[in-house]
Parts: sequence; structure tokens; C-alpha cells
Amino acid sequence: MKKPRKVLIATKTDDFRFPDPSAAERAGIQFEYAPHHALGTLNGKALELSALVLEIDAGSPDALREFEGLAEALPGRAVIAATPSADSGDIRRLFRAGAADVVASPLAPETLLNALVDVLEPGRSGAESPKGQVISVIKAAGGAGATTVALNLARLFCGGTGGKRSAERRTTCVLDLDLQFGDTDVALNLEPRSTVVDVIQAQERFDGRFLEGVLTQHESGIRLLGPAPSLVPLDAISTRFALSLLDAAARAHEITMVDLPGSWTDWTVPVLARSDLIVLVAPSNVAGVAGARRVLDGLQEGGVTAPVFFVVSKLAGFADALEKPGRIGKTLALPVDAGLAFDSQAVRAADRGKLIVDAFPNTRLSKDLRSASQKIQQKLAAAASLNPTPAGAHP
Ligand SMILES: Nc1ncnc2c1ncn2[C@@H]1O[C@H](COP(=O)(O)OP(=O)(O)OP(=O)(O)O)[C@@H](O)[C@H]1O
Ligand SMILES: [Mg+2]
Repeated sequence: MKKPRKVLIATKTDDFRFPDPSAAERAGIQFEYAPHHALGTLNGKALELSALVLEIDAGSPDALREFEGLAEALPGRAVIAATPSADSGDIRRLFRAGAADVVASPLAPETLLNALVDVLEPGRSGAESPKGQVISVIKAAGGAGATTVALNLARLFCGGTGGKRSAERRTTCVLDLDLQFGDTDVALNLEPRSTVVDVIQAQERFDGRFLEGVLTQHESGIRLLGPAPSLVPLDAISTRFALSLLDAAARAHEITMVDLPGSWTDWTVPVLARSDLIVLVAPSNVAGVAGARRVLDGLQEGGVTAPVFFVVSKLAGFADALEKPGRIGKTLALPVDAGLAFDSQAVRAADRGKLIVDAFPNTRLSKDLRSASQKIQQKLAAAASLNPTPAGAHP
């Protein structure tokens, strides 16, 4: 039998109880209740939820803001607003604030159950749940090598780079969300006709088909959402839009790599929380360790539970490669998953608009990247077999 989907009901007076638990059970739903004022302390519990029903006074701007914050903090979870006497303007505002549906309060059990079945039913509104896996790449310090890692891994996931072990080909997309200093187009020697800016401008009518039309194909097979050609404010995209962009990419590709800005913004934590894997790239120096500590604290504070694949980059020579990963892993209490050699060919390849695994496949760095790619694929396969529900889909 399928695991019941947990739905939390938070009403202001905390007096609503669903009268017929067996009807809910038949619909595959298990209700839990929380006092309205205790919502801020839900933390980990919120991650187990499929939906949250929240009573709200839609006429109050403060309540709307609070609702919006909550909807953004629960990516992939349906948040249903229960509101007394809402007019059409209120309803519109609630949907804009992220409501999956709006029902009247006091809650009517049958209406509530219908609304829940409706929003939790996979395939509703024709949207299939994302099947691909999302890997977000972040850095512990500027210039750590995150973009180099993201693109070379994407290249290896596409397959066809020689070597038997890289034979498996996967459809791979790269989303350059480094809105201000994205440089994936330069690294791939592409001149995208459409970029993330076109996507941002079309937020209201964006869907998977729109994404298809703005991706630029690299000769390796990588499909790139190119970076903005000019500085774009980091808040130009909303959390909800960033997540729908990830979902659209993950529906169409087996692997979606996301290159994120060094500065964290409102949508950073939700994007990381929605990822199947976070690749954290730190240079092998003191600043890299300090930055990695900050990032790990940020992930913890944000309640992000996605697994982290920790890469230490720019290891200079054998002594560094032997000794530093262990030391850094111990300092941070996070074992290093992969070390990458410092390699001047990386800059040469980048300057030529080539990926190092293609241009210089026999260098130490290319070997390190291939080994990292294999470990990541193993980690993803293990995660997928443990949790067949894709991240972000309703559990
Ligand atoms: N392993 C390496 N050895 C030597 N140079 C490297 C290595 N990896 C990356 N580089 C070079 O370091 C510079 C920064 O790399 P990259 O752009 O990948 O880092 P980043 O973390 O994405 O930086 P940013 O903060 O600008 O986004 C580039 O010139 C790149 O070619
Ligand atoms: Mg970069």
C-alpha cells in the first residue's frame, strides 16, 4: 500500500479536526494539526509534508507576506489557503503569493478533502513530475573552479568522451543562474541567441516548452541556458520561478546542473533544498576552508538536507593532493569526496572555449574530473534507489 501523504492543518483557533479519518485514509491522506502560531518552528517536520493548509486573513498585507514566505520556504509542497469571505482580488493575491488552492474557512471537510486530492494528484493539470536529477554547484570562494567543475561534469554526463567507463550518455542541461557574472557561454564558446534574461522576462508565461526554445546546444550535447549578457539583479527571479525553472529542466533532462552565484539570495536555499545533490567546490587554501565553513553553516541554518559532494580544487602537486583533502575534511568534519589538481591547462582550455576533459583528456585534472563524475553518478544512483520520489515532487 502507498505511504499516506501527510497534510498539516494550521487553523487560528486550533479547533478543526477532520471528522472522518477513514475517508482521508482512503484518499491516501494523513492529517496532522498544529497551532497557527507554532508554524515558524516546524523546520524538519515541514520536509515530511505533502501539503499545508493554512488559515489566513487574505485582507491583511502582513498575513499575505507571511503566507508568501511560508510557501517559498516549502518548495514542492502544496500550500492551501483557508480564508473567510475572500473576494476575487484576495483570491488572486493568494495565488500570486504561492497558494496551490484557496478554500473557505471555517473549513468544510468535504471541500477540503476534494481540494487536497486535486492538488496532490500527480499528473493534475497535465504536469508530469520531474524525472531527472538536479545538481547544484556552489563555491566556497570566488574563483574556486565551480563553473569549470559544473561544465566538465556536465560534459562527462553527456558521455562520448572516450574511455569505456564514461560510455553512459545522459541528456544534460546546464542552467547558468549566476545572474551577474555567469560565464558558461564563454567557457563553451557559444553565443546563445536566448539567455536567462529571456526566461526572466517571460516568467508569467514560462513553461517547459518555453525552456526548450531558449536552450543553446553545445557540440558535446550539453544544453545551456546561457547567462545574462549584462548585470541582472539577483532578485530579478522569484523563488517560485527559480524552482519552476529547475522543475522544467528536470522534466526534460536526465541531469540538470545549476551554476549558482557566489552571493546567496532569497532563492539560493530553496534551490539547494530542491536539488538532489549539492556540489560544493572549495579551493585548497585557508579562504576556501573558511568559506566552506560558512556555506555548510548556511545549509544547516536553511534546513537543507540534500547531500553535499565536497570537492577541494586547485591542489598543487602530489604532496597537496595526498595531505590536504584529509586535513580539510577533518577541520570541517566533512570528508572530501574528490580532489582536483591545480592545472594551468584549465586556463588554456577555458581561453580557447574548450572543456579541459576534451582539450587535455590525459592531464591529472581531467582524470580527477572523470573520477569525481563517476563518484557523483554512484551517489545519485544510490540516492535514487533509496528515494524513488524525485526531490521536489510531492512525497
Ligand atoms: N583545477 C584548476 N587548476 C587551475 N586553474 C583552474 C582550475 N579550475 C579552474 N581554474 C581556473 O580558475 C579560474 C576560475 O575558475 P571558474 O570560473 O571555474 O571558478 P568559479 O568558482 O566558477 O568562479 P566565479 O566565482 O567567477 O564564478 C578560471 O580561470 C579557470 O580556468
Ligand atoms: Mg563561476
